[in-house]
Amino acid sequence: MTVPFVELRDEHRALRDDLRRAWDEALDSGAFVGGARVEGFEKAFAEFCEVRCAVGVGNGSDALVLALRALGIGKGHEVITAANSFVATAEAIVHAGATPVFVDIDSKTYNIDVHRIENCITARTRAIIPVHLYGQPADMHPILEIARLHSLSVIEDAAQAHGARYHGRRVGSIGDVACFSFYPAKNLGACGDGGAVVTNDPKVADTVRMLRDHGSPRKYEHGVVGYNSRLDSLQAAVLHIKLQYLERRNQMRRRHAQTYTELLSHITGIVTPFVPDGINSVYHLYVIRIEKGSRNDLQKYLKDYGVQTGIHYPTPIHRTAAFASFNSSGCPVAEKYAERILSLPMYPEMKRNQMQYIADLLTDYCDG
Ligand SMILES: Cc1ncc(COP(=O)(O)O)c(C=O)c1O
Repeated sequence: MTVPFVELRDEHRALRDDLRRAWDEALDSGAFVGGARVEGFEKAFAEFCEVRCAVGVGNGSDALVLALRALGIGKGHEVITAANSFVATAEAIVHAGATPVFVDIDSKTYNIDVHRIENCITARTRAIIPVHLYGQPADMHPILEIARLHSLSVIEDAAQAHGARYHGRRVGSIGDVACFSFYPAKNLGACGDGGAVVTNDPKVADTVRMLRDHGSPRKYEHGVVGYNSRLDSLQAAVLHIKLQYLERRNQMRRRHAQTYTELLSHITGIVTPFVPDGINSVYHLYVIRIEKGSRNDLQKYLKDYGVQTGIHYPTPIHRTAAFASFNSSGCPVAEKYAERILSLPMYPEMKRNQMQYIADLLTDYCDG
């Protein structure tokens, strides 16, 4: 048997007629950048996230840069974020002109360790970017409390967590502003690049709208130096269709995660995901931790038997060459886990026999 890490074709096969119709309408309309399709999707996505405003942008990385700039964060400022994330989180801080400060991850949830944040706050700190890693919300209550005490902004990096809930609240509606990616493999993915900034603050939304379009509130008026980072109408049409199925597809991911956990939790040396009370993960990834033996050898063994896996991420950001010169408060957990984590195949169309096959392989390898 072969099990791919992700499979995008099944979703598109099922939606092909709807997608083709929407694209035909968009092609016939001649409106490719901005326009009714983008506005329609923004409205629907804001409702989904339970916020007042959503602004479509070019991708999730730009969403973070534009959110930082809209909050006035830039040169001379520090922004605290997690050592284990996709590099885009830290890149955005640098592109906005600020300095990233990396905080270690919690040893159970793999999200930012909230107990280590306050030690990293200086007179220059302006914001915290918690990342809802693997689809599981970061521990937002203590983060909001620290932010309130020190007058910091909170920007949620929700690129992996469309639809997740934290104590009943949708991710994206908890911080001052939140950023999403619609990269094709995300829980809500376009047929190309896309992203969104969501917020309850209409002023922040207006600033992001201006920044995404060359700093221009009206044609050829340029208040600030902006960007070209607009969501195009073909992607907006696709996203609007797929949004209708997102809850159902997230529920399928949750069911698969539950099956995986049932099948794997008895295996010696394998730690399945820990989900604290009040957290509703959307399992963008299902990540296990290997407590004994070599993760790389295990990954190769699975590959030899046709199972594709991933590592998210093999190098904590502060250990990459690009970010080695930035300050980290020492991130021993992120460093240790980078060698122990393994992401198993996860997508809504997965079948139980595929998970059983993976569990049998892991059982043979670890307990055989
Ligand atoms: C946590 C996180 N932040 C930001 C991004 C950047 O999103 P994009 O690829 O759309 O620029 C990603 C995308 O992989 C991500 O996983």
